[in-house]
Amino acid sequence: MFTSSTIIEPFRVKVVEPLPRPTREDRCRQLAAARLNLFSIPAEAVTIDLMTDSGTSAMSQEQWASMMRGDESYAGARSYYRFRDVVRDLTGMHHVIPVHQGRAAEKILFTLVGGPGKVVPANTHFDTTRANVEHSGAEALDLVIAEGLQPQAEHPFKGNVDVPLLDSLLAEQKQRVPLVVVTITNNSGGGQPVSLENLKQVRACCDKHGVPLFLDCARFAENAWFIRQREAGQAGRDPADIAHEIFRLADGAWMSAKKDGFGNIGGFLAVKDDELAAGCRNMLILTEGFPTYGGLAGRDLEALATGLGEVLEVDYLCYRIASTEYVWRRLDEAGVPLLRPAGGHAVYLDARAFLPGIPPGQLPGQSISIALYLESAVRACEIGTVMFGRTLANGEQEPGPMDLVRLAIPRRVYTQSHMDYVVEAVCYVYAERARLGGLRIIDEPEALRHFTCGFEPLGWDPLR
Ligand code: F0G
Repeated sequence: MFTSSTIIEPFRVKVVEPLPRPTREDRCRQLAAARLNLFSIPAEAVTIDLMTDSGTSAMSQEQWASMMRGDESYAGARSYYRFRDVVRDLTGMHHVIPVHQGRAAEKILFTLVGGPGKVVPANTHFDTTRANVEHSGAEALDLVIAEGLQPQAEHPFKGNVDVPLLDSLLAEQKQRVPLVVVTITNNSGGGQPVSLENLKQVRACCDKHGVPLFLDCARFAENAWFIRQREAGQAGRDPADIAHEIFRLADGAWMSAKKDGFGNIGGFLAVKDDELAAGCRNMLILTEGFPTYGGLAGRDLEALATGLGEVLEVDYLCYRIASTEYVWRRLDEAGVPLLRPAGGHAVYLDARAFLPGIPPGQLPGQSISIALYLESAVRACEIGTVMFGRTLANGEQEPGPMDLVRLAIPRRVYTQSHMDYVVEAVCYVYAERARLGGLRIIDEPEALRHFTCGFEPLGWDPLR
């Protein structure tokens, strides 16, 4: 009997979109006009776009078909009830509040529970989460395990929370902590998963101190797959079953459904507590829309309701995690310094090990991202000092916890040959790394500076 060890894409292509092929000259021009910030480069000038896996998925025929069934009624649309029931079934949480994307949920939640004097611990806050916590006046505290901050360390669940640290924080100042956040998977920490065991320990710790537990669950399905793959006693378990168990450990969750919802837009906030839900709905009406659409069209709610089911299919998750790991393994075999092990949605280059001569304050991750775009029209994203550091009063940079370059892989979009091209491009930049130098930021806004700041090279020509 024929059996194959090749993990194939569990879909075939029905609609194609041409890839832009800008010349090196075009790329040079674009980089100069963008002041070396890749967020300012038009997508038309990018061949393989690995800037994010957010909102960039290919939708399935079932999702497109669902969109035709979208009910665009202002209040009480059929599409809302369908979406609500899917999210209720997934999370076990009664109150389901649609939002236009993850950060809208963060804004609503932390406006209500944050504020000066409060502390919000997490494994690692994503940039928008941290920004929304801080914008409310509260402090955002990262309590990931020590291995989670060491790119080269091997650990199957590098997204785990340091429970003893959380316990001592709550023992000393639980009155300041409105809730504990666990991000699954831990995006800013390398797309690394959190184990079921760790989630249970965090739950027990929260119970001990009477503090609610919330999940930032943008990539919950990928996290469930890693639990099935790596955690003792979980092999072969249905990912949906694992996801159900994860959500039932929490009091609330928010999701940017632009990731594991296969949506181009959308998200939700789900909570158990009636009073908190009422407060969130009032804020929602103020900023997003009526509680049965929350800033989304009925067709978006339909696409998400369908996507949230598809993302838990075994064939899909097997292909998804294997294809990320394929890129990781090829780069690792070529000796490129990587955050270990492979993440779920992305491969992260370890910029400090890639460019050991460039100190974190001179933004090595940004230099690599610029070179990768210039040489290959592959767009990656710095997740390091640009994103998480800050400019001190003396003009120097306080480094972020790690300096990474994220190659985020959109879902169901690129093929293996696209990824082979990316691997070749990264290997080329690595071979030529002696040509790269440091950078400085020339202007920046107050919050989330990485989206709009400009850069200047420190004594070298990045466009050469
Ligand atoms: N939480 C996590 C873990 C995320 O990764 C993101 C977004 C958000 C919250 C915010 O959601 O974008 O829908 O408002 N991450 C994207 C990324 C932007 O590129 O990783 P959003």
